[in-house]
Amino acid sequence: MGELVTISEADYKDYPGAKILINRVQALERDQELRAQIRAVFGNRHLWFLCLTISLIICQLIGTSSAFTASFSYWIFLYGLFYGSYWPPIEEIFNQNGVDLYDLGTYYATGDPKRLLLVAKWDHRVVGTLAFRESSDDKTVKLWRMFVDPEFRRKGIASLLIDILVKVAKARVFKKIQLRTHGSNRHGIACYLKNGFELAGESIFSRILHIEYSVIEMELDLAIVTKSENHPN
Ligand SMILES: CC(C)(COP(=O)(O)OP(=O)(O)OC[C@H]1O[C@@H](n2cnc3c(N)ncnc32)[C@H](O)[C@@H]1OP(=O)(O)O)[C@@H](O)C(=O)NCCC(=O)NCCS
Repeated sequence: MGELVTISEADYKDYPGAKILINRVQALERDQELRAQIRAVFGNRHLWFLCLTISLIICQLIGTSSAFTASFSYWIFLYGLFYGSYWPPIEEIFNQNGVDLYDLGTYYATGDPKRLLLVAKWDHRVVGTLAFRESSDDKTVKLWRMFVDPEFRRKGIASLLIDILVKVAKARVFKKIQLRTHGSNRHGIACYLKNGFELAGESIFSRILHIEYSVIEMELDLAIVTKSENHPN
C-alpha cells in the first residue's frame, strides 16, 4: 500500500477531494466524540446520584412523589447539564478554524510560505490530508487538517504526510511546528508522539464534577529533528 500512495502539495484538481475527506472525517470524529462524552456523562454514577437527589428534593417541594416526576426531572437535569454547559465548548473546538474550507485554493495557493496543504492520493483518490498555517510567532507554523480516510488507516499514511510536512517546514526555515488536539484522541496523540512531537501543555475545556475534557498542545522542535538526523546515534 505504502508504495501506491503518493504525497504531494495539493493543487486545484485535489481541492474537491480534500474538502470532502476533511468534512467527512471531521463529522465522523465529532459524532464519535459526542457518543463517547454521552457515555461518560450519562453513565457516571456520581452525576446520576446528584441529579436524582435534586429531582427528589424538587418532588418534595412541589408535593409529589411520583416516580414519573422524579425520573422526568432527573433526565431534564442531566440533559441540561450535558447540552447546556458541557458539550457546547467541545462542539466549538470541532467547528472552529474552518476558514480554509470555504475555498482551499484561495487559502493555500497564495504563495505564502506559512501555508501548505499536502494530500495523500491512492489511485487519484485523496485518502489523506495534512496542512500547516501561520501562528503568532514568525518562526513557528501550526499543524492541522491531519485526516486519513478510515479505510486507509494504520498503513503509515499519516507518518508519510508528517515526514514530508516536516521537510517542507525545515526547508522554509521554520523553527517549530505546534498543534492542538483533543485529550481523548489517543490515536492522534500516539501518531504525533511516534513522529517526534512532544507534549507541550494541556488545558481543561469543559468539566462537570470530576469529568473533564482537555485539549493537548504538542510541538516539534525542528532544530532537534535536524540534529538527530545529522547524528542518528
Ligand atoms: C490519527 C490518524 C491521522 C492516524 O493516521 P494513520 O495513517 O492511520 O497513521 P499511521 O499509520 O501513520 O500510524 C502511525 C502511528 O500512530 C499510532 N496509531 C495510529 N492509529 C492508531 C490506532 N488506531 N491505535 C493505536 N495507535 C495508532 C501508532 O503508533 C502508529 O504506528 P504503528 O502503526 O507503527 O504502530 C487517523 O487515525 C485519523 O485520521 N484519525 C482521525 C482524525 C484525527 O484524529 N486527526 C489527528 C488529530 S487532529
